[in-house]
Amino acid sequence: MAIPVIDFSKLNGEERSKAMAQIANGCEEWGFFQLLNHGIPEELLERVKKVSFECYKLEREEGFKNSTAVKKLNDLVEKKSSEKLENSDWEDVFLLSDDNEWPSKIPGFKETMAEYRCELKKLAEKVMDVMDENLGLPRGYIKKAFNGDDGENAFFGTKVSHYPPCPHPEKVTGLRAHTDAGGVILLFQDDKVGGLQILKDGEWIDVQPIPNAIVINTGDQIEVLSNGRYKSVWHRVLAMPDGNRRSIASFYNPWLKATIAPAPALAEKVKHEADQAYPKFVFGDYMLIYAEQKFLPKEPRFHAVKAM
Ligand SMILES: [Fe+2]
Repeated sequence: MAIPVIDFSKLNGEERSKAMAQIANGCEEWGFFQLLNHGIPEELLERVKKVSFECYKLEREEGFKNSTAVKKLNDLVEKKSSEKLENSDWEDVFLLSDDNEWPSKIPGFKETMAEYRCELKKLAEKVMDVMDENLGLPRGYIKKAFNGDDGENAFFGTKVSHYPPCPHPEKVTGLRAHTDAGGVILLFQDDKVGGLQILKDGEWIDVQPIPNAIVINTGDQIEVLSNGRYKSVWHRVLAMPDGNRRSIASFYNPWLKATIAPAPALAEKVKHEADQAYPKFVFGDYMLIYAEQKFLPKEPRFHAVKAM
């Protein structure tokens, strides 16, 4: 069993309805799918690989070697403990957004990543348009829900992660299991080093590395907005003994003041709002809860935000 791989260019041709149906299936049955021919130039992706690897080597690797995760794992091994590391991830990560400071030592890093983010944001909006259509919502509905009425407010972030080779992968995870808080997530993962898995029908399934594919998944806010038609799915990254896994995840999220609720056209016909399966809430409130509960099930988060 493998997650769906979809040729995104087919949306513009005779096989459009087939491609639309494949994406609907990816959203409804999997919560994850991979896009090929997504329109991001290969030449740009090659540059992204180059500058992110160089950045890791020059600006991050030393810090990772001195990180808490490395120290804690060393301690466990020295003590010959049979315990696993429960509260750490074997991950080096930093965030790129429109208003934070970016690494600056690698020539071309900023320019390349800015260009990449611009392309990925456009792809996210195309994917959201497809979701609107598949859900029977007016075109632009999800984008508008995430941006609000006055302008481009949505949060577009890019997490640049590396998962260095781990001497004891049985003792620690690369990234602990979670569902994503936000909207649409677009992942540019390593060509060769795997480790990403999703939980499907009680079984962990690999997200197979495909060079230059973009992996799409839906976060908790798409689950709410679609009234549960599109579920946010548990995923994790295993630590791997060989190879340094690159993983660049960009997320198109609501702005913090956005009100999120099931789209009225998809909400169940119930008399009282309180009987809806999903609550209506302000996204910023959800993020406060998520910050504390990222690695726990999402359902209590929905309950907690309803109570705020
Ligand atoms: Fe995630």
